[in-house]
Formats: sequence, C-alpha cells, structure tokens
Amino acid sequence: MSASVAEPWGKNVLVEFEEGIAWVSMNRPEKKNAISVDLAREMLATMDALETDPRCGVFVLTGSGDAWSAGMDLKDYFRATDDMPLVERNRVYAINGAWQWRRMLTYTKPTVAMVNGWCFGGAFTPLIACDLAIAADEAKFGLSEINWGIIPAGVVSKALTTVMSLRDQMYYVMTGETFDGTQASAMRLVNESVPLAQLRERTRKLAKTLLGKNPTVLRAAKTGVRMSGDLSWEQAAEYLTAKSDQTIASDTERGRDQGMKQFLDDKTFKPGLGAYKR
Ligand code: COA
Repeated sequence: MSASVAEPWGKNVLVEFEEGIAWVSMNRPEKKNAISVDLAREMLATMDALETDPRCGVFVLTGSGDAWSAGMDLKDYFRATDDMPLVERNRVYAINGAWQWRRMLTYTKPTVAMVNGWCFGGAFTPLIACDLAIAADEAKFGLSEINWGIIPAGVVSKALTTVMSLRDQMYYVMTGETFDGTQASAMRLVNESVPLAQLRERTRKLAKTLLGKNPTVLRAAKTGVRMSGDLSWEQAAEYLTAKSDQTIASDTERGRDQGMKQFLDDKTFKPGLGAYKR
C-alpha cells in the first residue's frame, strides 16, 4: 500500500471541491488575505498538487472573509525582508512570482479569479494572470503603492499593460484611487461584475461551461492565446498550426472527429451554439 501524501493546503490556503470545481481561497481573513511568505509557499504547493488532481477541473481563486487580497503583506514581505541578504530576499520573492504569474500564466487547467472584496497592489498580478475574472460589484480595487511610497513593482506594472488601457493604468497608478467591480469590468480588468450575492453562482455557471469543454483542447486554446500575443503574424501562423496538430494528436477524446460527426452526420448539435456531447 502506498503512503498517502498530505494535502499541502489547510492553513493559509483552503480548498473546497465541488463537482470538478476547486474553490481555492487565500485564507488570512484577519489580515485581509495579505500575501505572506507562508501563503505564497502554500499556494505554490497547492497549485502543484491541483494540477494533477482529478477533483480540480477548474481552478477558482478567491479569498476568505471580506477580502480577495490586500496585496503583499507589508510586514512579512517588505519589512521582514529589508535586512535579508540579497540572495535570500530574491529567493523569497521568487516563491511569490512562481505562483502569482510564472505558474498561473501557464497553468494547465482553466483559472478564474472570483474577486469577492478588497484587491490591492500585488494582488493585481494573480488577478490578471488568471484566465478569466469575475468581480463583485461591491469589490474595491486599488493600486495603492503610490500611497505608501513605492511603485507597483514585482510585475504589477507589466501585468496591467496586458489588460488595461494606458489612460486607466496611468490614472490609477498615479492617483492610487480605489475603484469598484463595475468600474473594473468597464475597463476590462475583469470580464464582468455582478452583485456580491450572485458572485458564487455566476462563477459556478462559468466554471460549468468550462467543464463542458474538451480539456485537452481548452488547455491548448488558452495557451495559443497567451503565446500568440508576442509573435509576428508569420510566427503565430507557424506556431498555431503546429499547436493545433499537436492538440489533435494528443487528444485521447478525439474531440474534432466527434464534433464533426455530431454536426455533419448525426446533425445532433450546432457548434455555433455550444459544446459537442462528450
Ligand atoms: N500587509 C500587512 N497587513 C495588512 C495588509 C497588508 N497588505 N492589509 C491589511 N493588513 C492587516 C492590517 O494591518 C490589520 O492588522 P491588525 O489587525 O494586526 O491591525 C488587519 O490586516 C486588518 O486590516 P484593517 O486595516 O484593520 O482592515 P480595514 O477593513 O479597516 O481596511 C484595507 C482594509 C484593505 C483598506 C486596509 O487594510 C489596507 O489599506 N491594506 C493595505 C492595502 C495595500 O496597500 N496593499 C498593497 C500592498 S502592495
């Protein structure tokens, strides 16, 4: 009998499974889910474990209590690292970069940020690195760095450039003003916002839509979008052709054949209106 491996979450990160959805919460509600070194470490291990866990078909990132996350923990990630030797400080920061964007941007499962409340500073990185984002109308966002004397570093400023207009980036980076979920949606920082009371249900519905798709193709599709952005048209055409061939070859479900058969031969579904029957 093989020894069971302990789940890496349970303290700073909570995971709840529900029919293919993994609801992953940053869990320091008494500190507004500010990201400490321990939280970063636990989240990285959690992401690692969930990537091969069949209970996780969609990864939803949310926060316990009334916050999504108040960003980097000023005590634990700034003050406590001020006197560290540079090598050690860099290592601690690398753990954070590892989960917030290096891992998140290339995660093999679909990721949805469900923003239930406060979202500040460093929390913008995982927010933007998630594939999709739904916010509560009432959520409060802020690039508050300017307010306490730093710039949006880590990779926050870079992340902003991938989703927000230059005017919006400049305005909020330079003023540090807060904005709510409806404004975040209008400026495309999130896909949409809904009243807080409907947030979980709306996110569940979105997750179920994603769970209805062929997972091999879904993984390749989101990778294709991520990778194409920095390529020339010629390079993108080469890359996407190769990626498409690779996807068809590795798809054990043979979705393309099923889709064509159900549409062209059986006439049982319309690709324009939903996923083929799996
Ligand atoms: N780092 C460290 N601690 C934080 C924190 C952060 N980013 N955000 C909140 N906390 C702590 C508070 O210090 C407080 O700790 P205490 O109980 O030991 O005093 C606790 O979390 C609760 O926060 P509090 O400020 O009392 O809650 P609030 O509801 O009045 O205000 C915020 C909520 C989010 C507006 C406020 O906490 C805040 O401005 N946080 C900093 C946000 C920020 O600038 N983040 C960017 C970091 S890059």
